[in-house]
Parts: sequence; structure tokens; C-alpha cells
Amino acid sequence: MFARLLTRPRPLLAHRTFATTAARAAPARVARQSVAPSAPLGVDAALDPTAASSPSPKIFDEFSLRGRVGLVTGAHRGLGLEMAVALAEAGARVYCVDIHKQPDEEWQRAKQYVGGMGDGRSLEYVQGDVTDQQGMWEVGDLVGEREGRLDVCVANAGVLKPGEDCLEYPADTFDEVMKINVNGVLYTAQAGGRQMRRFQKPGSIILIASMSGSITNEGQPWVSYNTSKSAVKQMARSMACELASEGIRVNSLSPGYIYTKLTAAFLEPQPELLAEWSSQNPMGRLGRPDELRGVITWLASDASTFCTGSDIIVDGGHRAW
Ligand SMILES: NC(=O)c1ccc[n+]([C@@H]2O[C@H](COP(=O)([O-])OP(=O)(O)OC[C@H]3O[C@@H](n4cnc5c(N)ncnc54)[C@H](O)[C@@H]3O)[C@@H](O)[C@H]2O)c1
Repeated sequence: MFARLLTRPRPLLAHRTFATTAARAAPARVARQSVAPSAPLGVDAALDPTAASSPSPKIFDEFSLRGRVGLVTGAHRGLGLEMAVALAEAGARVYCVDIHKQPDEEWQRAKQYVGGMGDGRSLEYVQGDVTDQQGMWEVGDLVGEREGRLDVCVANAGVLKPGEDCLEYPADTFDEVMKINVNGVLYTAQAGGRQMRRFQKPGSIILIASMSGSITNEGQPWVSYNTSKSAVKQMARSMACELASEGIRVNSLSPGYIYTKLTAAFLEPQPELLAEWSSQNPMGRLGRPDELRGVITWLASDASTFCTGSDIIVDGGHRAW
């Protein structure tokens, strides 16, 4: 067996030798349409005499949000606050927009924690209702005027209303969910995108959808929620295509079941539901809010500059089953 393998691979070796030679020659011949914000990177850095003379890892620099400004809606608690803290840890000043007049004690502690890390990192609280288009644009203007930039916008505020038979679903509940989960996401993305356009800086807009935008949660009559999250995914694709030429990227992020106060409202009155939902993905558990830290920082940063119009699914494999 080994002898056969050793005597056979000549054509393959010849091909590999050719490929290696071609790859080495590539930097001179490949037409470049763009340059990495922190070029030279990776192989180009290895081939650059100056960079190669003092090699240093750059991969974590690409994820850095140092000096950047972010806006996250629904960031008084839950996934929004967790993502705001992650962006701030990566170096950003982050404006947390939520409907409550004042932030509570937990939010204040998160602010203190981030502020304690120094180097310009901060969390600021702004009251805002995502269903108010003019109000959200004003929040964007306020951040723009104060900071002179807005680099990252996360449209996260969303609601999930208790299930009802889809054939009897009340119009006012359906409208309410759509207003927050769809219109509110659009108004937030506009608030962020208008500042990116105003300051002519590249930016990243991230719309929080859900795996429920692609599948139906087994046993859950959530027609309004599922419909709204599907709309969010399509909104991201549509906006991405319109805004790419301005350097504005738009993606959606679709989490699976994550234990937050939103899901707790269903899980606490029905304790058997935790085991049921956990059994619906191959990992056998719900996600933690902190498990979105990496993906949100990646999407917000220069580590994802070629990613737009995508839906990123983080669901413990739920959709793989
Ligand atoms: N938790 C999950 O399992 C899960 C899974 C997939 C997607 N999501 C999505 O992630 C987002 C956050 O979910 P969560 O679990 O953190 O929920 P959450 O209920 O804990 O937090 C939602 C936040 O949005 C705010 N909000 C609601 N209406 C608002 C409005 N009109 N204007 C401004 N803020 C408003 C709330 O005050 C709250 O702080 C939602 O869009 C949700 O659909 C959650």
C-alpha cells in the first residue's frame, strides 16, 4: 500500500510544484482592486522587506476597534448590552440606545467596568425608541456631532410576543412586532448609515435577525416574530447592495436560542422547555450571550472587510439538524 502511494504521485507533485511557483509570482501579476486597511498583512507582509525585517502578529489588530464609535440599540440588557461591552473592550466608544428613561444598576456596572479598562473605551446611555424614525435619526446626528464619526451600528432591539394561533393572530400584536423588529431595525440602520455617509468613512451595520428568520421554531406559534426576522435578513441583503459602493457593509447576525430575559420569559413558566430547546441542537444546550462577542467584533471590525450581504448563523448547530 505504502509502496504504491510512494510510486504513484508524480503527476500530483508536478502540479504542486507548478502551483507553488505560480503563487510565489502572484503578488506582482494579480491586479489589486483594494488594499487592506492595515497593509501589508499576512503573506504580503512576509514578502515585504520592511515588514519581514521585524515580524509582528497583526491578526488581533485587525479586530481592534480602537478609536471607533459604535451605536447599539436594545443595549440596556441582554444581547445588546453584551455586544456593546464586547465592542467597547475591542476599543470603541459605544452608545447604548434603549427605550428606558434611565439605565439600571446592572447597566451602570457594565459602564464602570468598561471605563475602568481605559484607553478611550466607554459606554454611554441614550434613551430612544427604535419605532420613531425621526427620533432615531436625531440620535444618530447627536452621536455624529459629538464624535465626528460613527463606524459601527448594531440594530438589536427586538421583541418576541407570546404565541397565538396564526389563523387568529391579532392585527395589533402583529403590527407591534413588525414596528419594533422590522421598522425599528430599518430606522436604526438609517441612523447609523446616514452618519457613515455624512463623514464618508467606511462602516459596518449589523442587523440582529434570528435563526427564526430561516426556520420555524418547533412547537412555537411565533408567526409575527419569524416573519419579522426573515424581513431583517432580506433588509440586510438589500441595504448591503445599495450601500457597498459607499464603503458601508450591512450583514445580519442570526443567533439560535440564547438564555436571556427574553427567552427566560418562556423558559421560567415552562421548565420542561429548557430540555426541549437544548435537545434541538447537536450541542445539547442553549447559547450564552458572551458567545456572540467574537462574531460581533469580527463583523464590526476590519477583520471582515469582504463580508457584506451575509447572514451569519450562530446557533449551536440547530439549523444543521
Ligand atoms: N435571546 C435569544 O435567544 C435570541 C435569539 C435570536 C435573536 N435574538 C434577538 O436578539 C435581540 C436581543 O434579544 P435579547 O434576548 O437580548 O432580548 P431582551 O428582551 O433581553 O432585550 C431587548 C432590548 O430591546 C429593548 N427594546 C425593546 N423595544 C424597544 C424600542 N422600541 N426601542 C428601543 N429599545 C427597545 C428592550 O428594552 C431591551 O433592553 C432581539 O432582536 C432578539 O429578537 C434573541
